[in-house]
This record gives sequence, C-alpha cells and structure tokens, in this order.
Amino acid sequence: MKIAPSLLAADFSALAQDVARVEGADMLHIDVMDGVFVPNISMGPAIVQALRDKTPLFFDVHLMLQHPLAYIETFRKAGADSITFHVECGDEPGEVVEAILRSGAKAGIALKPATGAEAIGEWGAKLSQVTVMTVEPGFGGQKMMPGPLGKIQEIKRRFPQAMVQVDGGVNPETIGLCARAGVDCVVAGTAVFEAEDPQGEMERLRGIG
Ligand code: DX5
Ligand code: ZN
Repeated sequence: MKIAPSLLAADFSALAQDVARVEGADMLHIDVMDGVFVPNISMGPAIVQALRDKTPLFFDVHLMLQHPLAYIETFRKAGADSITFHVECGDEPGEVVEAILRSGAKAGIALKPATGAEAIGEWGAKLSQVTVMTVEPGFGGQKMMPGPLGKIQEIKRRFPQAMVQVDGGVNPETIGLCARAGVDCVVAGTAVFEAEDPQGEMERLRGIG
C-alpha cells in the first residue's frame, strides 16, 4: 500500500520543512482548489514550483478545478509528475487526458463520492491513476464515507493498469477498510502531518494496510 501525504495538512508557513518531514513517502499529494469547483481555495502552481527543487518526491497533483484544461501545461511546467482532475470538471474528460499526456505527465481521474465508476469512458485505458474520493472534496480533516470504496473492484476490473487511490479521511482506524477494498494507494493529510513523527506514522499506516 502506497502512502501519499497531502500537503493540505502541512504548515503553510513552513512548507519546505514540512515536506522534509515526509521524505519516506511514496509521493506527495498536492491539493489544488479554485473556490469554484469546491468551496475552498488552497494553493496554485507557484507553490508547486517553489517546492520542486526542495524534494525528489513524486508530485501527485490533485486539481479540484472547474475547467482544468487551461491549466494543465502550467502545472506540468511547475513540476507535476502526475495530474489528476475531476470527471465532473465541466471539460471533456478525454480531451483533458490527452492534454495531460501531451504535457508529459501521468494522467489521473478523480471521482466525487456520488459519481459512479461508469463515468469513466474509454479514455480510462490511458490513465495511470484513479482517485476515489471518500469525502466531499474541499477540506481536509473530514470523516471517511466508506460507501465509495464499493467502486474499487469495478475500476480495477475495467482499468487494470491504473493505480487506485483513496482520498479523504484515511487514518489508522480506516486504512484497514481501504486495504480490504483493494486500494493501491491512500492519501493521508491530517493523519500524517499532525503526527509527532510523520515518518513513523506512515510506517504504521503501511503496516496496517
Ligand atoms: C480533500 C482533499 C484531500 C484531503 C485529505 O478535498 O482532496 O486530499 O486533504 O485530507 P485528510 O487526510 O485530512 O482527510
Ligand atoms: Zn486530494
């Protein structure tokens, strides 16, 4: 089970230092929110770029943007290794996937809790990652909704090449549910960054998952 700490739960006044506290992670999850697609504003490409030469970690950028198509190149240039956008974003998903692949990044799709796996079209065969949201996107520190975990088997059957990631409310109490559902990777914001020893907390999560 891969662990992707979410930068949303880091100390925004000391981001580089906080990133150094999670160097043993499998990737760094970067939540980008526009105040339109979700009722919150977080960080943009300037933050991604500022952190790029501070860490060798893989940057897993999660775009919670309405109409992300216009920003794909910008995030890739800023240093994104993978770019995940929402199928509910208002742009044609197949076109966004093509733009991500053209940019040289890996492509991922995210599904809100109420969106079924059938929303992933044939372009799903080109994805490296599918992110199943287990909270309504917009805020860290929410309680996991277990229902969406039920989509995972269908996603794995239709798109066996894609890593399935769960995002929202993952902690030592809920990671067992994710493991049993067949998840490959979990995002953990609050659980990792609020731990006194983030490295130890990630090992603990890996041990349970
Ligand atoms: C929610 C974000 C998540 C969130 C996870 O919109 O996509 O990545 O920050 O945070 P925790 O682990 O605190 O639920
Ligand atoms: Zn996220």
